[in-house]
Amino acid sequence: MHRPSTSVAMLEHQLSELRLLLERKTGVLVDTATETLVEVAEEHLQSRHLASAEELLARLHLSDAECESLAARLMDGTTGFFRYPVAYETLAGVALPELLKRRNGDQPRAVRIWSAGCSTGEEPYSIAIAVCEAMNCNGGCNVHVVASDIRPDALKAAQRGLYPESELQRVPRQIVQTYFAKVSGHLLVKPRLRNLVTFSSMNLAQPAYLGQFDFIFCMDVLPRFSTAQRIALAQRLYLYLQPGGYLFLGQREKIPSADVPFNSRQNKDYVIYQKPLAAGAKTGR
Ligand SMILES: C[S@@+](CC[C@H](N)C(=O)[O-])C[C@H]1O[C@@H](n2cnc3c(N)ncnc32)[C@H](O)[C@@H]1O
Repeated sequence: MHRPSTSVAMLEHQLSELRLLLERKTGVLVDTATETLVEVAEEHLQSRHLASAEELLARLHLSDAECESLAARLMDGTTGFFRYPVAYETLAGVALPELLKRRNGDQPRAVRIWSAGCSTGEEPYSIAIAVCEAMNCNGGCNVHVVASDIRPDALKAAQRGLYPESELQRVPRQIVQTYFAKVSGHLLVKPRLRNLVTFSSMNLAQPAYLGQFDFIFCMDVLPRFSTAQRIALAQRLYLYLQPGGYLFLGQREKIPSADVPFNSRQNKDYVIYQKPLAAGAKTGR
């Protein structure tokens, strides 16, 4: 098998150990080509001034943060504004009206939404815009989007909220004008939108409790996890939802009902997953 010329060799069993370790600590199934994995491990090893693959593995065993940092180099951050339009239609036209009706005009509690695996911010900003537009509040409504990711660089870009105009080409002009300001050829998220979103660094493979949510968006994350980690994460997402709350996945993703007791509901060709109203709320970790 061809390997790039690296200063520190990684043996087959060390590569297997590395794959297993990354999967266990970050959930992500590392099916990356061996050459890429070797290159990434080598870059990481050099950036930490380590002398051997043994030293790298020992360090990864000791530190979750070290594993997350290495795994981040292998992760795909593909995203976009209103990436799966039908999901946002379902949020605005089905899930949100249902929640507001259930609350029966009792609005003081914010609508809490989690964008889990938010990449560079396009998803949480799209969620906040969809809710503001549906509630006709022009950025002033009682919604709080918590957005998390494992990659620090992605979170930094998300917090900055500066995007090339080409990224918003397909978004209606009125929306762009309302929520973005033109800044030297780019579009910058306006404070009215920025203030609705809080960003946080989080590894979805580890339990961490951010409170209860009315809706959770976890799009294009689960298919990248190993089967065991995928089921465990889906179960945690279920716990973190309010009874009656909805989980939004990527357009073709599915959660088998045998794994988690969600009720599925279809809008056009899009399936959302509802935690039954009769289910209890989570009480702890
Ligand atoms: C393909 S992107 C999808 C982004 C966005 N949800 C969307 O659909 O547009 C997957 C994101 O999940 C993040 N991710 C992968 N594994 C993660 C983990 N264990 N913890 C937190 N985020 C993770 C990646 O960093 C990446 O930003």
